[in-house]
Amino acid sequence: MTESAVTRAVVIGVGHYLPARVVPNAEFEATLDTSDEWIVSRSGIERRHFAAEGEATSDLATHAARAALSMAGLDADALDAIIVATSTPDLTFPSVATMVQAKLGMTRGFAFDIQAVCAGFVFAMANAQALIAAGSARRVMIIGAETFSRILDWTDRGTCVLFGDGAGAVILEAQEGTGSTADRGILSSDLNSDGTQKGILYVDGGVSTSGTAGCLRMQGKEVFRHAVEKLARTARTAIDRAGVTVDEIDWIVPHQANLRIIRGTAQKLGLPMDRVVVTVADHGNTSAASIPLALSVGVARGQIKPGNLIVIEAIGGGLAWGAVVLRW
Ligand code: UT7
Repeated sequence: MTESAVTRAVVIGVGHYLPARVVPNAEFEATLDTSDEWIVSRSGIERRHFAAEGEATSDLATHAARAALSMAGLDADALDAIIVATSTPDLTFPSVATMVQAKLGMTRGFAFDIQAVCAGFVFAMANAQALIAAGSARRVMIIGAETFSRILDWTDRGTCVLFGDGAGAVILEAQEGTGSTADRGILSSDLNSDGTQKGILYVDGGVSTSGTAGCLRMQGKEVFRHAVEKLARTARTAIDRAGVTVDEIDWIVPHQANLRIIRGTAQKLGLPMDRVVVTVADHGNTSAASIPLALSVGVARGQIKPGNLIVIEAIGGGLAWGAVVLRW
């Protein structure tokens, strides 16, 4: 196949923010029939961060955005667009992304939110890549930011021990590539959803129904059953579409919901765990924030380096799931 010049969406900055309050599993033992042992053995989660009262999703997102801008050495006005992936916005509208735009003092460009629950960051990356490839934007910041602590039922031990709050951001920039798999940037994506599976993971409130924010409801076992199979399949599709092989992958950066799902997916793909970035123990499930948080932590730990071939993959409410292959 002949290679020809293409516009790639290349990561030039990454950053994250976690709220100050750390909640260890043991804190739930006071109010629920649960134990640190159960939570660790079933999910791999040891602690999570919860936002303070008055600390909103846009605040978390703005901290992460500033960290990513600082790494890229850019001012906010160097961005053309901001996309925030979230299911826990400050308000019904306007978007969190426009609030971040204002907080950063960005006076140009455009901003909007994407909602694909835990897969939101993967969907946002694919959409940002499309904007860049179409020439609609040269620099796009993608933020995953969530305050899931606001939609948890504190009496439901099957869900409230699993989630946390946080934000992560990456900045993508248009750069000319050769069209080969050696190019830096996003090489492929695969997006999927199945709306018939709404009942296994949803929030029981909303603007046009209850008029309330509602609480998260999940049939964990059912979601688990879908997760490993669908995540391995979407990752495999994205890998094939990128024209690379599993052996070439340096890091899988999966959605951090459950260590058993992360292990099962890696195993199905034939990748050892020393090529998987894992943060679930410290963050819990931060939904759309979990992958950018893991990317940022992976860079800070010295795991992810320029030139590395990375697969990100996630599944969540919808069901919605997908994967992106990129060279860092
Ligand atoms: O990010 C979106 C995607 N979400 C996910 O990927 C989550 C997917 N699901 C999961 O991670 C797992 O299904 C869970 C961690 C939620 C649950 O693990 P499980 O091994 O599927 O456990 P289970 O739901 O089958 O529950 C086993 C037992 C039940 O008791 P019985 O019926 O066997 O007597 C539960 O009532 O554990 C009980 N249980 C708990 N016990 C102590 C449920 N939650 C707790 C708890 N502490 N917090």
